[in-house]
Amino acid sequence: MIIANFKSNVINFDKWVDDFENSCSPVDFYVGIAPPSIYITKYSSPRLAIGAQDVDHSSGSRTGAISIEMLDEVGVEFVIIGHSERREFFHEDNDLIRKKIQALDKSKISTTILCIGETKEENKMGATKDVLKNQLSVIDGFELGKNFTIAYEPVWAIGSGQTPEPKDINEIHKYIKDVVQSVSENNHVPDVVYGGSVTDKNAESFFKEEFVDGALVGGASLNGTTFANIVNIWRENII
Ligand code: PGA
Repeated sequence: MIIANFKSNVINFDKWVDDFENSCSPVDFYVGIAPPSIYITKYSSPRLAIGAQDVDHSSGSRTGAISIEMLDEVGVEFVIIGHSERREFFHEDNDLIRKKIQALDKSKISTTILCIGETKEENKMGATKDVLKNQLSVIDGFELGKNFTIAYEPVWAIGSGQTPEPKDINEIHKYIKDVVQSVSENNHVPDVVYGGSVTDKNAESFFKEEFVDGALVGGASLNGTTFANIVNIWRENII
């Protein structure tokens, strides 16, 4: 699975699709884009699943919020939740993220991508696994759908050009799979994708690792050619 997270960036989507289509060989795996929600109906391409960068867990008198039903109605196939920028700038905590999982679980949207990751300080303190385990406590007791996916995104790697060593990512992904399997009601073993400064230069080093099931790409996805290159690299390295 390779996902583009456009975040709150405005791009020329016609050019993006041209660049992507000109460089991307056929795909037989999950490739998606998560544009800003206001562009979800405008950005479409037959080869790309369309997703949202976040969702509200409820509806009605909730000014400014976008509900799951609304996303479903416009054809959204996947939703990203718990991104570290949501946690940091919008103060989302485990309680709120758990509510989103609960609401998505009951909905028709087939794929949820839960982002987790430690800060630089937590990493330096050797607390990464404890932090991830705490963030994963939001799924405690849920029967997770088969497409419930985790994105491991170290906060310090996002947009910084720094990344963990591929072997360390692999070890953490294995750990995440084990934790999710043990805490979910149905012993679900999720796909775990890596996010944080993935480019077409470093993607192969991550994709060669056994427990890396794809990537969530921010900055490098804003260019259709670069994103296509990453998709092509995934195709060549699918284990
Ligand atoms: P980045 O962002 O690729 O720009 O580091 C990844 C993300 O935040 O999902």
